[in-house]
Amino acid sequence: MTALLQLEGVHAYYGSAHILHGLSLHIDAGESVALVGRNGVGKTTVVNTILGLAQMKAGHVNFGAAQVTKPRIYTAAQHGVVVVPQGRRIVANLTVEENLMLGAATGRKGPWNVPEIYKLFPILQERAHTPGTALSGGQQQMLAVGRALMANPSLILLDEPTEGLAPVIVDQLAEVFNKVSGQGTALLLIEQNMSLVVRMSQRYLAMAKGSVVAEGKVENSKASLQDLENHVMV
Ligand SMILES: Nc1ncnc2c1ncn2[C@@H]1O[C@H](COP(=O)(O)OP(=O)(O)O)[C@@H](O)[C@H]1O
Ligand SMILES: [Mg+2]
Repeated sequence: MTALLQLEGVHAYYGSAHILHGLSLHIDAGESVALVGRNGVGKTTVVNTILGLAQMKAGHVNFGAAQVTKPRIYTAAQHGVVVVPQGRRIVANLTVEENLMLGAATGRKGPWNVPEIYKLFPILQERAHTPGTALSGGQQQMLAVGRALMANPSLILLDEPTEGLAPVIVDQLAEVFNKVSGQGTALLLIEQNMSLVVRMSQRYLAMAKGSVVAEGKVENSKASLQDLENHVMV
């Protein structure tokens, strides 16, 4: 099977700062994979490399069968790979609905459209015409997830989607992620909350110093939780 996303021997930089050191990973259709590791190991840089925001000087990225050596910000979305960025990045002078519509820019066909997103997150419909940045943190995260779904992706990269959110909101998002995953969309979850990882992911990749140093299966068990926490302990 061809992976939806594959990075092979990637070296990535910000200016002269060498952040990713020969990183390889792959995500297959329908998989739910966690990418874990301490702050600063380069998890967001993996996302930024895929988006062309960090400079890839060696290695390559494959979106399905398409090999890319110089990704641009729109390349991933064109291939059905979308990002829910760390910090959400809701566009300030657009309404909730306009922010959602941004996600549809690629024109990919699929089950997701504005009414379906409103069914998933009814609060977004109630706030449809308010500025996106007027929402609470949890609601902005819902909007960021909704915007990603609007692209009808085959893979969603979630960069610390529960950072700073109350447990009740985290549970709500977890339910949505499991639903989306259950419908066959692959997920790469970058997360510090390992109890969420054991609930959501089937496989983990652990990073240290800019490369993947361990991987394994995830189970919803205490042993698996401990194993994961060992990879992110400061
Ligand atoms: N725009 C940038 N320019 C220079 N260095 C950066 C930039 N963004 C992140 N870094 C550095 O790259 C390293 C990896 O950061 P990041 O990928 O954000 O880690 P993580 O997401 O795992 O916490 C860190 O040392 C960080 O300071
Ligand atoms: Mg990060």
